[in-house]
Amino acid sequence: MSKKLIIVFEGIEGTGKSHHINNVAKYLKKNKKKFIQIREPGGSKNSEIIRKLILNNKSSFNQYTDLLLYLSARSENIELIKENIGKKIILIDRFTDSTIAYQHYGMGINLQFINNINNYLLKNIDIDFTFLNTVDQRNMKLRLMKRKDLNRYDKFNNIFYDKVQKGFIKILKKNPKKYMQIDSNLSIDHNEKIILNKINDLI
Ligand code: TMP
Repeated sequence: MSKKLIIVFEGIEGTGKSHHINNVAKYLKKNKKKFIQIREPGGSKNSEIIRKLILNNKSSFNQYTDLLLYLSARSENIELIKENIGKKIILIDRFTDSTIAYQHYGMGINLQFINNINNYLLKNIDIDFTFLNTVDQRNMKLRLMKRKDLNRYDKFNNIFYDKVQKGFIKILKKNPKKYMQIDSNLSIDHNEKIILNKINDLI
């Protein structure tokens, strides 16, 4: 029997987090482990509707509206998470740390305000482990430049993403035992191995 943990993948755009969560999902499937995989914003049917609204290039919401929409998308996911807690491994592509990193460290929205709503929504849902994917400044620029089909949140400048990444690292340093920093400057194969080893230890 494996442990039914909640495992989150975080990091700024272009750090490979979505590749790694998909790779872990593939591995769990191959090994016949029960799991669900969701992303934020998105995940449940209603959250995907909210995702389209937030990230649409035609949207022009202010940063508080964006925050409340991200939290609305989360609120719609909570049921899905609760239904599966303890029954399946739950893999999440971005979660509460993204809100703190982007909306607080990146955009300067009050942290207490964000924490209050997050805590209210999550109640006794605990994240067991987080993989934080990071890149250096040079790779950050290169990877952001290479992205096609950019959505509203892919278009900030490097100074913004740098603030967000530093925010993620601050969050990690507050609770290092529950995080693993993945150096995305290294090869993807190398990182796949590190992550799958850790997944094996965890579950
Ligand atoms: P994605 O590109 O990983 O799908 O994420 C979509 C964007 O949403 C990404 O730029 C990060 C942003 N985001 C926030 O700003 N706050 C949040 O709470 C979440 C979950 C995502």
